[in-house]
Amino acid sequence: MRFPLVIGAAALALSAGFAFAQDVTQREVQMKEVGGAFGQLNRMNRGQDPYDPAKAKAAFERIAAAGTAFAPLFGAEPTAVGAALPSIWENKADFDQRLQKLISDAKAGAATSDEAGFKTAFTTLQPSCGGCHKVYRGD
Ligand code: HEC
Repeated sequence: MRFPLVIGAAALALSAGFAFAQDVTQREVQMKEVGGAFGQLNRMNRGQDPYDPAKAKAAFERIAAAGTAFAPLFGAEPTAVGAALPSIWENKADFDQRLQKLISDAKAGAATSDEAGFKTAFTTLQPSCGGCHKVYRGD
């Protein structure tokens, strides 16, 4: 009886595919969250919105939380679907380090409480986005 075996293998393949799809969706969800929070900070930094310490703190915290949730969505096996490039898995240590920097810069930003501190923290965090996307995100 080879039938159950085939069905079993098909079910396994299907659930693995599903897990990949979930990972990708989650990555997009978390990065959209990072993008939304970053947009708020960016407007404050440009003076398009008034600087508000509570709002800035909340936005930095959202970046730190989403970055933390984003990190484990890149397993040992390349799941280079979506916009994530295979280069992530070829340079996983560098990728992880960049992500950790984003998280720690965001936490440092959340600890600031005046506009000068905010601007310094934002200017430190900002290059991380494009720096990582340039090497690890295809559009
Ligand atoms: C360590 C690397 C890294 C850092 C740092 C990083 N990103 Fe990303 N970002 C990615 C990757 C990889 C993707 C593609 C995810 C996918 O599609 O699987 C992505 C996708 C995105 C997307 C698209 C989400 C979607 O699918 O709609 C936005 C928006 C985004 N990032 C914003 C930001 C902003 C803003 C920052 C800085 C505050 C940032 N990212 C920092 C790696 C990074």
